[in-house]
Amino acid sequence: MTDPVIPATDPVTDWATDFDLLDAEYIVDPVPVWDDLREACPMARTDRRGIRTWLPTRFDDVRALAGIVPDLSSKDPLVITLPPEFEAIDPNAANEDGLNAPPISADPPEQTWTRKMILPAFAPRAIEAHREFTENLCHELIDNLIERGECDAARDYAQQIPPRVIAHLLGFDPSMADQFVEWVRGILEIGFYDPAARVKNRQEFNIFLANEVRDRAANPCDDLISELLRMDVPEMSGQEIRVVVGICNLLVIAGIDTTWSSIGSALYHFGTHPVDRRRLAADPSLRPTAIEEMLRYYSPVTMARVAQTDVEFGDVVIREGEKVLMNFPGANHDPAAFESPEEIQIDRTRNRHLAFGSGIHRCAGSNLARLEMDVAIGAWFDRIPEFELVDPSAVTWAGGQVRGPRKLPIRWATAR
Ligand code: HEM
Repeated sequence: MTDPVIPATDPVTDWATDFDLLDAEYIVDPVPVWDDLREACPMARTDRRGIRTWLPTRFDDVRALAGIVPDLSSKDPLVITLPPEFEAIDPNAANEDGLNAPPISADPPEQTWTRKMILPAFAPRAIEAHREFTENLCHELIDNLIERGECDAARDYAQQIPPRVIAHLLGFDPSMADQFVEWVRGILEIGFYDPAARVKNRQEFNIFLANEVRDRAANPCDDLISELLRMDVPEMSGQEIRVVVGICNLLVIAGIDTTWSSIGSALYHFGTHPVDRRRLAADPSLRPTAIEEMLRYYSPVTMARVAQTDVEFGDVVIREGEKVLMNFPGANHDPAAFESPEEIQIDRTRNRHLAFGSGIHRCAGSNLARLEMDVAIGAWFDRIPEFELVDPSAVTWAGGQVRGPRKLPIRWATAR
């Protein structure tokens, strides 16, 4: 899949009143913008793309806003940070196969019972059962590239891991992994700029999921889809296929771009910071804190809510129908919450970051995400402890909803 052609947008002259998530420089490095706004105007706004949208930058504000439920609603497709014309064009957003994605696209009570359905599969012990599969996968990927002495670490490594883990977890044919990446990028990344691509990919993906779920309903086995269909959840009665398709839709969408971005950002960091790289290579016991620091500094996920009523928040009133971005990445750079937030400290111990969100929608897959990062970074450092970025100007970043490197040329010395 080719990278999206990012259309030029009108330059931003005032980030406080006219910010632009799609600004090319903001996508590459949003941190200076957040730092300025936090001082000058902690609730920035924009009227670009037809709907007033707010951008909080303070840690406490982001956390408080995530707690205003359901007045700030997550109902599909409101959690998407996309401009509204991209949402409106999707005519099948609520067709019978369920293009929604509960619990992330729902408010209570639907959010509560759908979240409860998936939590057991993502509990720490259940997730640990996927470690061996993930380790074998990472080593196999490295076996296939190590002799080359260079690779695109985003495409050849980071991108390959989450779709295969998710396919394994949900019981899909592992050969579908590349197709998942194409669908998810088509929806979240390419689709950010190209509404027709977004609709096409959503429809194809939804048809695939509906067929899989119907198949498990007819031929139950011991995978997660069959388990979800078997659950005795009164609220689901009569709409099992729709609900389970929606949940699978979310697990694939939420589980791929996010984790791929985080693994890629970590390799970007260590490929450009030799002191940190050597330190982690020499002392693997630092990996858990290093991973949390990568999650904090390079947090990939920004979500959105839409006001169902006027909401007074500090000095501003968020009017009914306006959008608020859950700027979890920006919150993680707030000096009021983190000591020296612009320093990456791979042994940072006090690190209560919001990369996985906050409140009732906090990431249900965080144990899996952490396991994948731990295994992916651990296997890479075991096999390729010395490596560097080839050319910083060749790195490309995706932004908007999920931020992370999409092209990451890395090289290392080979044995020959
Ligand atoms: C580093 C990787 C990941 C990051 C940074 C991340 C981040 C997030 C964030 C910020 C939210 C909150 C959304 C909101 O407030 O609207 C969220 C929700 C969610 N995530 Fe993740 N996520 C990651 C990986 C995963 C994985 C691997 C899965 C599972 C396959 C997953 C499943 C979910 C689910 C099911 C929700 C919705 C929870 C709810 O609405 O109750 N995530 N994630």
